[in-house]
Amino acid sequence: MSAFYITTPIYYINARPHIGHAYTTMVADAIARSRRLRGDDVFFLTGTDEHGQKVERAAQKAGVSTPAFADEVSASFRQMCADLHVTNDDFIRTTEPRHRDAAQAIWRKVAAAGDIYKGDYEGWYCTVDEIFVPETQLVDGACPTCGSKVERLKEESYYFRLSKYQQPLLDFYAAHPDFLQPAFRLNEIRTFVESGLQDLSISRTSFQWGIPVPDDPAHVMYVWFDALTNYLTALGFPADDPATQDRLSRYWPTVTHLVGKEIIRQHAIYWPAFLMSAGMLPPSRIIAHGFWLMGGAKMSKSFGNVARYQEYAETFGVDALRYFVMREMPLGQDANFSDDGVLTRFNADLANDLGNLVSRATTMVQRYCGGIVPAPHVQEALDTNLRAAVSTTIERVLANFEGFQITIALQDTWELIRAVNKYIVEREPWTLAKQPDRRAHLETTLYEAADALRVIAALVDPVMPDAATRIRGMLGVRQEPWTGLAGGTLVPGTRLGTIEPLFPRIEKTLEELRGMSTDTPAGGTTDPATTTPATPATAPAPPAAAAADNSRISIDDFMKVDLRVATVLQAEAVPKSRKLLKLTVRVGADDRTILAGIAEAYAPEALVGRTIVIVANLKPAKLMGIESNGMVVAASGDGGKPVLLGFSEATESGWRVR
Ligand code: MSP
Repeated sequence: MSAFYITTPIYYINARPHIGHAYTTMVADAIARSRRLRGDDVFFLTGTDEHGQKVERAAQKAGVSTPAFADEVSASFRQMCADLHVTNDDFIRTTEPRHRDAAQAIWRKVAAAGDIYKGDYEGWYCTVDEIFVPETQLVDGACPTCGSKVERLKEESYYFRLSKYQQPLLDFYAAHPDFLQPAFRLNEIRTFVESGLQDLSISRTSFQWGIPVPDDPAHVMYVWFDALTNYLTALGFPADDPATQDRLSRYWPTVTHLVGKEIIRQHAIYWPAFLMSAGMLPPSRIIAHGFWLMGGAKMSKSFGNVARYQEYAETFGVDALRYFVMREMPLGQDANFSDDGVLTRFNADLANDLGNLVSRATTMVQRYCGGIVPAPHVQEALDTNLRAAVSTTIERVLANFEGFQITIALQDTWELIRAVNKYIVEREPWTLAKQPDRRAHLETTLYEAADALRVIAALVDPVMPDAATRIRGMLGVRQEPWTGLAGGTLVPGTRLGTIEPLFPRIEKTLEELRGMSTDTPAGGTTDPATTTPATPATAPAPPAAAAADNSRISIDDFMKVDLRVATVLQAEAVPKSRKLLKLTVRVGADDRTILAGIAEAYAPEALVGRTIVIVANLKPAKLMGIESNGMVVAASGDGGKPVLLGFSEATESGWRVR
């Protein structure tokens, strides 16, 4: 049994989990499940990264002690795993004593290698991403990764001799071309390392919420030094009893770190360098995925455009959410998250393709064979072609899972689903059933369809474990390992279980489905500056639990929102939308189209000529096929209708509102 160790990043606890965190965790889970099906000895780790200044600050803002804050938010990530049917074997918290011991042990090893020295640090620091940003990389004085304001820091600091590892790292990359995937990422990292590495500040004295540096408790460790070590903590490091040694050598360095693309540098440069210094081997594989975008921007708390996984799981089901994210985002690329996208995939792929197949294959065995799987009798081209498609698909899907290409594995599986549906249509069992002399053909068709469905259930199992279990329940079969998975092994005579609809088609529009405007991202933020153009009246209330996320913004943050006086030139209803009006507004010399969710409160004709206030610098967003360039600002009470802003004194179109 080969050992397979997979990790997610450990998540910061300054924000509650959103689709981005859920995504990495679900992908890691699908990979872990696929390896278990292959018979590997899997260890799957996730957890929370709890130290650092921003957590200390977030707790202060929330008015609770830092440990209490950490407990609460960490628990929400643990809950996310349970909610999304994630099968992690451990959940690590960096505030646990086992982790403090591991991080301090690594520190000691690195110090013993002569790679840590004390100096003074002065420079720019981003507390959101917990990284030092070289002056040359600042973008308008802000962090290039998240756009937050950076802080000037000057303090005594321990340094890690990262520069010493430039050549060893380059040698390591050369010897391990698969170390970082997709491959172009390794090229980027190589170029970065070749351009020269500076020593890294790895301690701070300006806050307390961290792991004390061994023998110098005035310093706490830089969060990344602390955080990266978690991958070893969970294996029992630094204990050196035989059982732990055994575990360490079993799972290390054969580990797969699944990470988002923004933290590649820490994983592909710092982490191997720390390990080399500590006399340990670098991780064998890093898989970097892209970002979920919302309205064109990375979904992230600092941009205020997050979608919460809970609402999608509730509305569409956990399996459908898992399917959507894994089908929609090819490895390494970015993808757009939209309500419309989820609904479309649900109805097309799950209800139509898979749901129909399940329903046809099972109800026909029920109807024509008394619920007992018949034996196949004939092997005509149609049947042998289907069998061939089944075996090719098994091969492809297994290989694609092994190469972490889940999206392609799902595409392959769906090709087979469509092929089986086509096979049924071509054979027309409903016609065969009326022709007693064609019974052999009928039974063969029903057998082959049910058998292919059994294989399909096995292939979707890592991504949609519940659907797979339900399909197997209907077919009356048990879960089977991927080793030995083949077409034609369904045992004739198997009695079907209870048949139930798998993914009933959702006939409602998104508006009806969720009582929401189609222009509000489901589970979207309440931050109107970064949502797609919804009026505040239509934005969902923040979850009560999000109170700890509330933070005051600076005047600079406010000034990022370009509010302008505008005049409505034209207004009309948007076909098929209960809430939306399409407005043409004049802002200074500029005319633009804006969609506003105010149709229930205003007749279009009453708006023409009216002076309103708009957010002028929102990224354009397409709603109901129309591009909206901005957002109308309105006041609203709880569940009440929106009331447009206006002025009691004369203003001019284009004036700034602040
Ligand atoms: N604590 C560090 C990681 C330390 S690992 C030793 C951290 N935490 S985080 O909370 O910011 O989580 C970042 C990770 O969450 C990303 O690497 C990615 O896995 C996931 N995502 C967060 N936002 C995301 C998207 N918008 N899209 C896809 N994944 C995203 O960085």
